[in-house]
Amino acid sequence: MAVSLHRLFSYVLGALVVTAAAHKSAPSVTSTAASSTLTGIAATAPTIGPSHQVGRLPALGWNSWNAYSCNINETKILDAADLFISLGLADAGYEYVNIDDCWPLETRDASTGRIVPDPSKFPSGISGVADQVHALGLKLGIYSDAGTNTCAGFPGSLGNETVDAEAFAEWGVDYLKYDNCNVPSNWTDAATPPDNDWYNSNSAIRYRQMTAALNQTGKPVHFSLCIWGDANVWEWGDRVGHSWRMTGDVSASWSSISSIIAANAQHLDSVDFFSHNDMDMMEIGNGDLTLEEQRTHFAAWAFLKSPILLGTDLNNLNSTQLDIIKNAQLLAFHQDPIVGTPATPFNATASAPSTSPPEFYAGKSSKGTHVFIINTNTTATKTFEFGNVPGLGFGRFRVQDMWTGKNLGTFANKFSITVDTHDTAALLIHRA
Ligand code: GAL
Repeated sequence: MAVSLHRLFSYVLGALVVTAAAHKSAPSVTSTAASSTLTGIAATAPTIGPSHQVGRLPALGWNSWNAYSCNINETKILDAADLFISLGLADAGYEYVNIDDCWPLETRDASTGRIVPDPSKFPSGISGVADQVHALGLKLGIYSDAGTNTCAGFPGSLGNETVDAEAFAEWGVDYLKYDNCNVPSNWTDAATPPDNDWYNSNSAIRYRQMTAALNQTGKPVHFSLCIWGDANVWEWGDRVGHSWRMTGDVSASWSSISSIIAANAQHLDSVDFFSHNDMDMMEIGNGDLTLEEQRTHFAAWAFLKSPILLGTDLNNLNSTQLDIIKNAQLLAFHQDPIVGTPATPFNATASAPSTSPPEFYAGKSSKGTHVFIINTNTTATKTFEFGNVPGLGFGRFRVQDMWTGKNLGTFANKFSITVDTHDTAALLIHRA
């Protein structure tokens, strides 16, 4: 079993502190309010919540879509799994190997009603791939859709939740990404949801049906809602799944990455244990993002506690890119067993300009207080006052660079650092 010491330690510590770490959301079974005036499907839809045996921390792994789009097969999936081991990604905590759209045949099995893995792409079937992924100590994810068909036109699970959840469980699937394409017109959302709660919207109910079906199988599955920020998902996502997409699809450009950070920064109250805004999959290794932009992409996903699912052919990552995605201090912040909340924007100085996305973020981890500074413009010196960082106050502080582990010195009142164009400074701060 390739379980890293770091992960094992986090797990044990996490189990010890789980009762102490109060979480804002309800336990895994929820019900609609007694005073509810719900009618129709909203009155009878399942209210079972997601399993809390999985999904406490944001997922770390890889997904096939940004790397290969529809052009997938089991060799590529198993190659990614092998590279988790040989590149040290498993030791760094990466565990989910996720198959995206285009894995099945276009029609279900006529007698069982099941979705059928395309035998030309997956000769071992999904269960054969799951066995090999599990043998490496990793977990397997699969993809379906809360509509009649997936975005690429393969069978969707709306109305077939039970038969599909049973198949996924039987095959040994550990993670389900559930997309939002091809929604029939009778499932469209009203302008205002029943009881003014988006949990009762038709969108939420399409996803709740799968939560219930997954629950019935008895196998804990990480449930990832690929709902693109629709239906105010951040308000109800943790009652239905473990993570939820906040936007449309990421692309390998600074404008895409910075706009996703900006969109997500408005809804950070939703992020905690078992409750993760999903900023979409990583583009490190794709397109022509600068090194600094790739560092910001990784750092922001880590300090905002989004799932981090690598999205490139891992064979092509160079050592600088590997150092970014294996950075121990940023991963430790992301996977902190005691603090579930992300870093959030703060006012660095009285005269700090307002930017989109915000440039200055502060948060806690079990190691101390952290400040993250994204430079949204050209190379510049960035300054913040310690007194403006929540929880720090005035005085002298030791500052460490989380990227390098280097001690930057002891400073009074304020701290300044030069940050390159689109780069992110990541700092750990202790009172001196
Ligand atoms: C999109 C989804 C992408 C990818 C794609 C597959 O809706 O946001 O992440 O899964 O479908 O067709």
